[in-house]
Amino acid sequence: MHVFDENRILVLDFGSQTTQLIARRIRELKVYCEIFPYNADLHKIKEFNPKGIVLSGGPASALEDGSPTLTPDIFDYIMTQPILGICYGLQLLINLSGGTLIKGDQREFGHTNIEYQKKSLLFNGFDFADYQVWMSHGDSVDTFPKEFYTIAMTGSGVIAAVGHREKPIFGVQFHPEVTHTTIGKKLLENFVINICKCKPTWNMHSFIENNIKNIKKTVGNEKVICALSGGVDSTVTSLIINKAIGKQLTCIFVNNGLLRKNEAEIVLNFLKKLDLNVDFVDATDRFLTLLKGVEDPELKRKIIGNEFIQIFEEEAKKLGDVQYLAQGTLYPDVIESVSFKGPSATIKSHHNVGGLPEKMNLKLIEPLRELFKDEVRELGKELEMPEDLIFRHPFPGPGLAIRILGDITPQRLSILREADAIVIDELKKSGWYRKMWQGFAVLLPIRTVGVMGDERTYENVLAIRAVDSLDAMTADWTRLPYDLLARLSNRIINEVKGINRVCFDISSKPPATIEWE
Ligand code: XMP
Repeated sequence: MHVFDENRILVLDFGSQTTQLIARRIRELKVYCEIFPYNADLHKIKEFNPKGIVLSGGPASALEDGSPTLTPDIFDYIMTQPILGICYGLQLLINLSGGTLIKGDQREFGHTNIEYQKKSLLFNGFDFADYQVWMSHGDSVDTFPKEFYTIAMTGSGVIAAVGHREKPIFGVQFHPEVTHTTIGKKLLENFVINICKCKPTWNMHSFIENNIKNIKKTVGNEKVICALSGGVDSTVTSLIINKAIGKQLTCIFVNNGLLRKNEAEIVLNFLKKLDLNVDFVDATDRFLTLLKGVEDPELKRKIIGNEFIQIFEEEAKKLGDVQYLAQGTLYPDVIESVSFKGPSATIKSHHNVGGLPEKMNLKLIEPLRELFKDEVRELGKELEMPEDLIFRHPFPGPGLAIRILGDITPQRLSILREADAIVIDELKKSGWYRKMWQGFAVLLPIRTVGVMGDERTYENVLAIRAVDSLDAMTADWTRLPYDLLARLSNRIINEVKGINRVCFDISSKPPATIEWE
């Protein structure tokens, strides 16, 4: 654990889709928060030394055999702390305290009204009134031991919130972490700030200071290398390490020939201004030669990944004795949770520098491993990165190779680059770029008939992909307005030679993935 902030909340995860959101909401209150699996070591929990504990929701029924539960030693320990149980967390809390649950016949999803009945610190600042909350649950609390009392009920008579008479222990049947629960933010604030007595001290400024000290101490006089892609994670990683150790860091930036329009220039210009030590390798020919005639998506990914590692090793060797490899790993990748084992990792082989640290005998530095993406962007702002770079959509390591279906040729790359640049331009002009997770163009391996002026055309089809997502594990297609889609289609067909038809991808993930290959 790198974080020095003593105001800390721990979320014990029972597998809910929204567990990550709980941690994010708490961090938005400027209080540091981590997620551990429900069956984490008591020793690790005590070492984390939280000022309060949230028990997350989860898909299981606490009434079923084998459902996730807390060991007696963890339960005894957490009962000495402030607790907020959410949904499954509440049911488990009540069950383990000797209460009973009613099995739900069907899962209740969506809005429910709750009526707030009894004053409590958790609802501090609310009037006695009806509130809309968001519930997703099957089971509910039937009876609870006498040390608990009811704070709120739903319109249909379900216990919606309970409190402990003597201890700062609470439970809610609804999800305060989702935005549909309008009182959720205030409720979490009441728990974290007023009940757990955390001070709102977590911010990117102090994070940078602590991190710089940490990196200096770890690295000493050794050399560090970093694979820089120009994406926000690797750029922020490089900037913060650069602040700590300056020229001891070398960033290796490989142009694989599969980048977007003007991408290498934009990134290089910015880095040059900051006086970063950048080793720029233009390996376009190497990659495109290897990819010639390759149509299989997995093979494309493997070729690109292997070649990248090869080049990275070659460059690192030139630098002499390097001890550390810096990586822009983020918190969602390191959470050892029950809920986030998304399918992506096994469906597509992701291109990163995985395997390199062992192969080259390098030690890892991951200065962002406690951060969520939005925090990395805030950090980028603190480090004076231009907004354009901070808010760039994620871009896959294999780049445009997995957005050109079928064979990759310089001509197809050029068509896709031009079309993609128009997509990005229009998304930015209309204000949609910042509202969505990712938007881009995909070049399809089919041609269709069209008519331009009086001429028959037989040209390529382009797909536009636009998705909303929180973490790329799941995604929904962005409901872009028709007039924007019309503008995109008109501009692309008129301005990009080689495309005569534009489609809009309306698939969500799952079952589709965000990238097409
Ligand atoms: P999929 O297509 O799996 O993508 O739904 C999920 C997210 O990951 C990005 N992506 C990659 N990122 N190397 C990366 O660094 C890769 O090989 C890779 N493949 C997909 C994708 O853009 C989306 O944000």
